[in-house]
Amino acid sequence: MSKLIDGKLVAQSLKKEIKDEVLKLNKEGINVGLAVILVGDDPASHIYVKNKAATCDTLGIKSFEYNFSNNASTKEILSSIEKLNNDSRVNGILCQLPLPYTIDKKAVIEAISPIKDVDGFHPVNTGKMLSGYGELLPCTPSGIIKLLDYYDIKIEGKNAVVIGRSDIVGKPLAVMLSKRNATVTLCHSKTVDLKSITKTADILISAVGKEGLISADMVKSGATVIDVGINRTDKGLVGDVCFDEVSKVAGYITPVPGGVGPMTIASLMFNTVKAAKIQNGMKI
Ligand code: GUN
Repeated sequence: MSKLIDGKLVAQSLKKEIKDEVLKLNKEGINVGLAVILVGDDPASHIYVKNKAATCDTLGIKSFEYNFSNNASTKEILSSIEKLNNDSRVNGILCQLPLPYTIDKKAVIEAISPIKDVDGFHPVNTGKMLSGYGELLPCTPSGIIKLLDYYDIKIEGKNAVVIGRSDIVGKPLAVMLSKRNATVTLCHSKTVDLKSITKTADILISAVGKEGLISADMVKSGATVIDVGINRTDKGLVGDVCFDEVSKVAGYITPVPGGVGPMTIASLMFNTVKAAKIQNGMKI
């Protein structure tokens, strides 16, 4: 039976550190603020944004919410971002994805000032990350690395297999694991014989969004399995991994919910404080 990686617990411990850090900044006369832009009526996005604002509240971070309807124009969103770029109360700006197809996502991402880009999606920040000196790194991948570190799961020299090559998770995670000296394989929908590759993984990360994708026969005995999938089913929220059977084979495993999800939000708060420090010329 594998050990459970408790994302809620690790996120709580990280959030405690962040709260202390915010208090320290407040004492120096620095307030921390995060602006969240939401476009459209995607129910899941509404829940995520609400959770982000609630977490800000518990940590002493001021949150600013901007809601746009489904028929908002790219121009309106860009103009709101420009105001936030120049608003000194706002240290971090996040535009919740996915955006409606009518919105120019690239223009939105590029409009956010790189020093306020707490998602780490701006090309300046992805470029810095690739070069190995990134400061604002994407939240879900950095949350995953923090989980591995918390449980002392060695990354260096290990075979890490990442499934899914999204800009938000798979691609940046592959870069970050490689920086930590893992041997990384990045799999995707066109990968041939996925099982033969996942079987080699010491660390297996699934970030696809397909219920039941990872069965026990695809997992090496003792491997660490990280499930980034969020699938809404009749049984409730499930990941990509067949948890009951895979937990009998894996060494460590994350649950869904309560695994990676809480770490994404904690990492966002971490980035917001980091951004505030950068903007105030402080050491990070
Ligand atoms: N949608 C799903 N994950 C994320 C994320 O990390 N950031 C943003 N902005 N949108 C998302």
